[in-house]
This record gives sequence, C-alpha cells and structure tokens, in this order.
Amino acid sequence: MDEVKKITEASKHVEEDKVENFLRPQNFDDFIGQEKLKNNLKIFIKASKKRHEVLDHCLFYAPPGLGKTTLSHIIAKEMGCDLRITSGPVLERIGDLAAILTNLSNGDMFFIDEIHRMNHLVEESLYPVMEDFKLDIIIGQGPSAKTIKLPVPHFTLVGATTRAGLLSSPLRDRFGIIEHLAFYDIKDLVQIVNRSAMIMNIVIDEKASEEIARRSRGTPRIVNRLLKRVRDFAEVKDDKITYTIAKEALDALEVDSAGLDKIDRLILTIIIEKFDGGPVGIDTIASAISEESDTITDIYEPYLIKSGFIAKTSRGRIVTEIGYKHIGTKFQKKI
Ligand SMILES: Nc1ncnc2c1ncn2[C@@H]1O[C@H](COP(=O)(O)OP(=O)(O)OP(=O)(O)O)[C@@H](O)[C@H]1O
Ligand SMILES: [Mg+2]
Repeated sequence: MDEVKKITEASKHVEEDKVENFLRPQNFDDFIGQEKLKNNLKIFIKASKKRHEVLDHCLFYAPPGLGKTTLSHIIAKEMGCDLRITSGPVLERIGDLAAILTNLSNGDMFFIDEIHRMNHLVEESLYPVMEDFKLDIIIGQGPSAKTIKLPVPHFTLVGATTRAGLLSSPLRDRFGIIEHLAFYDIKDLVQIVNRSAMIMNIVIDEKASEEIARRSRGTPRIVNRLLKRVRDFAEVKDDKITYTIAKEALDALEVDSAGLDKIDRLILTIIIEKFDGGPVGIDTIASAISEESDTITDIYEPYLIKSGFIAKTSRGRIVTEIGYKHIGTKFQKKI
C-alpha cells in the first residue's frame, strides 16, 4: 500500500499536530456533540470536586480522531489539574512508569494513549496503583529480593484506546468511568466545520459545510482535514467556499458522496467480485488488497459497518444490499 497518508484516514498525520492543537476545543461548550457523554462527565467532575476527591479513573474508547485526547484535556482543565501525557508503547519498563508516577502531584491526571499497547508487566504493575495508589517495586534479586510498596500521589488515570477489545479485563475493570465515543452525525459535523472555518477565518456556505460533513466519515479530524484542503481550492478559485467548490474539491480528492475513499471501495468491490459478497475473513480481505489486517479492523471496517455497507457475521464479513448499491453492482440475495 502506498506510504502517502490518505486524506480520509482517521489516524493523525504527523504534520497535523499544530493544526490540531489550534482547532482543539478547550472546554465542554466548544466540544460539539456526544451530549450524553458530556453530561455524564460534567456530573462526575462536579461530584468529585464536591467531595474533594480525585476523579475516578477514566477509559475512553473510540476509533481514531473522535476526540479522546481532546476530552482528556478538557477534563483536566475542568478539574483544574495538570495532565501528564504518555502512551502505551512508550512505557516499556516498570521503571518508566515509576518515574512518571513519583513525579505526579496529588490530584494530577495521567493520560495513557493507546493503552492497549502497554507491556503486560507494566500493565500488571498498574493494578495496585489504580486501586490503592501503591506501586510494588522489587528490590534485589533471587531469594533476598524484597517487594516494597511505594506510595504514589492520588491521581486520575485516563486511558484512551481505539481497540477496547484488546484490553485485558483486569485492567478494564479498574476504571470507574468507561465511555465510548460514537461517530458524529451530520448535524454535529456541520457545526464542527463552521467552528473550524471561523477560527481559520474562512467564509463558507451552509451547503458547502454540509457536503464536507457528509464526506467526513463521522470523524472531526477528517472534517478539519477536508476543510483545509477545500480551502486550498477555494483560495485558488474564489475567496469563499461555495457548494460547487466544495464538491469539486472533494471529487478531486477522490472522497465519494458517502466519504469512502479508494481503499474502502476496493474492499467492497473485492468482497463482491472475488468472494461473491462474502462471508469472508478479515485476513483474506487484507491479503487480497495487500493491507494489514489491523489497519482494516481499526481504520476501514468501523465506518463501513457503521454506514451499513458491510456486516459482521459469525463466518466473516459480508457486503450488505446498501454496499452493493453504493458500488453499483446488482445485489443477489443468497439462498
Ligand atoms: N467534539 C468535537 N468538537 C470539535 N472538534 C473536535 C471534537 N472532537 C475532536 N475534534 C477535533 O478533532 C481533532 C482530533 O481529535 P482528538 O485528537 O481528540 O482525537 P482522538 O480520539 O484522540 O484520536 P486518536 O485516536 O488518533 O488519538 C482535534 O484536534 C479537534 O480539533
Ligand atoms: Mg488522541
């Protein structure tokens, strides 16, 4: 597969850090959508502040680009505490964890991104920390080795993952607050386009916002990315983003009317043409399109399933009637 990052890929492109921070909502009012989740969090925050306690450990799971990191920043701000950020793969040894934990202050938040990718020894050493704020450290070797319990400050652990299924249940069970972020609906995405356009000083038509929203796979990160690219087209042609410019730009970027890109359409076409619409296993699909299975499960499949183009069955993935229609192939019901 080509190394050039695709415009509709929900995971972050390396060069996007600056733009993301610039557009990142700073408080709950600016964080659009996910109303139920926001309301819950506001209540938990209020209650823990009232009790003068740290917030329970939180776990956020969702596909990339839906706002897990953004929410964690907002919560830290609301709690008035510092947010210490790291990620699962960076915590290679228990010593790495100990170094961070002993440097926290009471009430701080400790954010572990991609928590499903943590080394299992580090993960196990987190259990007593999450429960009793004590880190077990082994001193010495062999028969004279001793375990000491090192007290650590009371803090809130915030874990983020795109793969809740890969999290061990002892770890998952130690989070008091477990929340899922759903894909955003068009109405919310339109609001996100408009908010970002305002920050970026772009004039945009309502219909153009809607078109960008519709093609963004329910994902704020993609909304912002498409808006930026469409603006490039607008600057060349006209100062304002009209529906015509948006449509023309998005077509040129090969993002179709449902937000699917070349790879999404290839996945659907291959299941239809090579495997008679399925069922077919994810590994078989992956090798047919020379892509990693994990990339398909993480990046492509969630949105294809959410949009109803493919369905998961016990025997593998199938393309649905809507999927056939989108590709333009006649659907034949199997007997
Ligand atoms: N609810 C929202 N309202 C407005 N903008 C949002 C919202 N959620 C996310 N964004 C925008 O999308 C960008 C990506 O969000 P964020 O980095 O929080 O995603 P993530 O879930 O942490 O992704 P990853 O899994 O790749 O780490 C942010 O920079 C922000 O500008
Ligand atoms: Mg993130």
